[in-house]
Amino acid sequence: MLTEVVVGEEGRFLTLAWANGSTARFHAGWLRDNALDDKTRSSGNGQRLITVLDIPADTRIGEAAVAGGDLSVQFLPEGKAVRFPSGWLALHAYDRGAPAQAGWTDGGIERWTRATIQHAVPRAHFAAASAQGAALRDWLAAVHRYGFAVMDGLPAESGALISIVDLFGYVRETNYGRWFEVRAEVNPNNLAYTNLGLQAHTDNPYRDPVPTLQILACIENTVEGGESSVVDGFAVAAALQDEYPEGFRLLSSRAARFEYAGSAGVRLRSKRPMIELGPDGELIAVRFNNRSLAPVTDVPFDDMEAYYRAYRRFAEMIEDPSFEVTFKLEPGQAFIVDNTRVLHARKAFSGTGKRWLQGCYADRDGLLSTLAALQKNFKEAAE
Ligand code: FE2
Repeated sequence: MLTEVVVGEEGRFLTLAWANGSTARFHAGWLRDNALDDKTRSSGNGQRLITVLDIPADTRIGEAAVAGGDLSVQFLPEGKAVRFPSGWLALHAYDRGAPAQAGWTDGGIERWTRATIQHAVPRAHFAAASAQGAALRDWLAAVHRYGFAVMDGLPAESGALISIVDLFGYVRETNYGRWFEVRAEVNPNNLAYTNLGLQAHTDNPYRDPVPTLQILACIENTVEGGESSVVDGFAVAAALQDEYPEGFRLLSSRAARFEYAGSAGVRLRSKRPMIELGPDGELIAVRFNNRSLAPVTDVPFDDMEAYYRAYRRFAEMIEDPSFEVTFKLEPGQAFIVDNTRVLHARKAFSGTGKRWLQGCYADRDGLLSTLAALQKNFKEAAE
């Protein structure tokens, strides 16, 4: 609940105080643009009805008062009166310092290592998740928090992986198809389709935008070896930043290049950093794939040795077993990774058995949207 409002110099901003002792300043123009009245925002879909050009450039606060714990403001020169709920203002406060150091992630993301998660792998049963209730919400929330989760209890049949995507969104189709087969082939067009081990990697960094989710489902797995493993790229990036800040700076400030031209008619290329930061230093994505790294040509000569030192150290840390969580997929099991964060790997396999997996891509924004909608439903049901 708000307790006090003080209008600042020339009505350019105001300072609010809440009963819990917190305070925050808000600018006149920001408040006016975010007014919640039905002339500013559609009461139906919540979309803004005005543009920034509809707001006078000299917008300022004429009067402001706390009424019933909420804020009421009159804007000049429009003379428009608007009410802002206390909780809305607390939720949208922006009056805080800039992040101290690059590489931060928001509080909903938890980094992990083998020690913290090998025996607590997030998982759900497909039948339970299909009820579109708490089991699905918790599974999607785990994908958001940890960047991976296992799904048990799928039919061990071709195409079953699509029913996982149907729980939260849509398949992202690529030149590999709606889904692709991962099994040993003669003359494969991709090294994934051999029995070789694959270094931990993110998929398809040569696409822009990169596929943000990958699902791998197992239909048959009777070979020796062939275990899957996952590595938290955000945890490794943080470890690199601690140990070798200059290496982290190089990998996050210089672009790498990625390319795939393994099939006729396909020449996919991208130019993106291995560690991607947002403009405010937020850790956005990790791209790491030895098979599709193209010649890097955007690092100045004077930085290239250090860049390769950083790349090598990043690779060594990714290989470090203390970061690796390993499991063998059984028929009817699948796992999902946030392909902008979590790397996946496969151990080499041999023997006379068969290993047949199918993979597909989907979009994380759709998953997060379904998660937020489910969370809203649960919250409203609880109120
Ligand atoms: Fe892969």
